[in-house]
Amino acid sequence: MSNGYSKDLEKWLPRLIAVWRASRGKGTGPETRLTPQEVKEVAAGVRQLSLGLTRERQLAGARYMDDPKLLGAYLLFYWPVSYAQARQVLGELPNRPRQVLDLGSGPGPVAFAALDAGGKEVTAADRSKAALNLARALATEAGEALATRDWDPTKKAPLPEGQYDLVTMGHVINELYGTGDSATAPRAALLEAVLAKVKRGGSLLVMEPALRETSRGLLHVRDAMVAKGYAVRAPCMFRGPCPALVKETDWCHAERPWPMPQVVEELARAASLHKEALKMSYLLLAPKGDEWPEPPPGRLFRIVSEPLEGKGRHRYIGCGPEGRVGLAMQERHRTEKNERFLQLHRGDVIAVTETEPKGDGLALSDVSEVRMVAPAGKGVPPPPPKEDAPKGPGTSPNPGAPS
Ligand SMILES: C[S@@+](CC[C@H](N)C(=O)[O-])C[C@H]1O[C@@H](n2cnc3c(N)ncnc32)[C@H](O)[C@@H]1O
Repeated sequence: MSNGYSKDLEKWLPRLIAVWRASRGKGTGPETRLTPQEVKEVAAGVRQLSLGLTRERQLAGARYMDDPKLLGAYLLFYWPVSYAQARQVLGELPNRPRQVLDLGSGPGPVAFAALDAGGKEVTAADRSKAALNLARALATEAGEALATRDWDPTKKAPLPEGQYDLVTMGHVINELYGTGDSATAPRAALLEAVLAKVKRGGSLLVMEPALRETSRGLLHVRDAMVAKGYAVRAPCMFRGPCPALVKETDWCHAERPWPMPQVVEELARAASLHKEALKMSYLLLAPKGDEWPEPPPGRLFRIVSEPLEGKGRHRYIGCGPEGRVGLAMQERHRTEKNERFLQLHRGDVIAVTETEPKGDGLALSDVSEVRMVAPAGKGVPPPPPKEDAPKGPGTSPNPGAPS
C-alpha cells in the first residue's frame, strides 16, 4: 500500500524536527515528537498555509517560504505529505533515475523522495533561499549529498545545466503564471523547456494539489503537451484530449492510503484539518521523441473514481485507451473470475472482458473476467515480447529507455 517507503519516511521525522528546532534557534524536546507547546505553535502556521494554499489560495505564488513560521509549518506538515506522494508516483517510473532535478523544491521533499527511490545526483532548485537552506540542512542531517540552485522561471532565469533522468515539479506549476485559462500556455511552454533537459527514456513528473481548480489546470496543461506531440507515461492511457475536462464538475486525481506520521496527525488535529488519504493529481511526461507506452493486451481501464456503490451494484469510473466510461457490475453476477471488481481502488489498472454497453457506460456480467494489470502506484507493465518480432532498433516500446 505504501510502495515500501514507510520505513524511509519514518527516518525523516526526527531529521525534520531537529532541523526545524535548529532553524528557530531555541527549544529541545523528544526526538520523534513535538511538545504540546510546539504542536500549538506549528499548527497555527499549518492552518494559515492550508487556508492560503488550498481554500482561499491567496498564498499561491506568494513568498510564504520566506516567512519562518510558514516555512516551519511546511517542513513539519506538508513535507512528509509531498514526500509520500512523490514516493507513490515514483513507483510508476519505468526505470530507476540517477540524475534528478527537482524544480520548485521548497525544502526538498520530492528531491529526497527521489534520492530514496534510487537517485544518485539530485539537485533542488527554488527561488526561496530560506527553503533551500533547510533542504541543505536536511541533507547534512541525513548524510546525503544534495546540490541546490536558485531558480525562478518567472524571472526568465535559465534552468540548471545538464541532462536528467528525472525532473520533478511538486506543487509548483499552480503557483506560476496566475490563474485561469491564460496560465495554460506559459505553463506548457515551461514544461516543454524542462522536457528538453530530460534524457530519452527519462520522465518529467508534475504533481499538483488534488483541488478541482489545480487538477483541471494540470489537465489543461496535459492536453497542451499532448497536442505538442508529447507522450504521457502515467496515469493516462487515453491519447486524445482529457475526457475529464468535458464536464466542468469533473476532474482527475489519485488517492492513496499512507502511513501518516504521528506528527502530521497531531498537527492536522490541532489545525482542525482532515488529512487521511494522500490526494494528488500527477502527470509523468516523456521527452520529445519517446512514444506513448504500449499497453499490455486486453481491454484496459484505470479506475479514476472511488467505488460508487448502488443497491446490489458496484460501480466505478474507468479511463483507458478507449476513454472515460462508467463500469458497473451487479453483486449477483459475482464469480471467481470477476470478484476482483468488488474491491478496486482509485488508480488500479484492470483488464475486463465480455462487457455490454449500458446507459452511458459498460456493464459486466457473470461471464466477464476482471484481471488486475497494475495495482495503484505500480507501473503498467509493457506487453510481453513477441516471439517472432524482428530484433533490433525500433522494436522496443520505448527505444530511448536505458536498460
Ligand atoms: C507548495 S511548495 C512545493 C514544495 C515542494 N516541491 C513540495 O512538493 O512540497 C511550492 C514551491 O514553489 C516555489 N515557487 C513558487 N513560485 C516560484 C517561482 N516563481 N520560482 C521558483 N520557485 C517558485 C515556492 O518557493 C515553493 O517552494
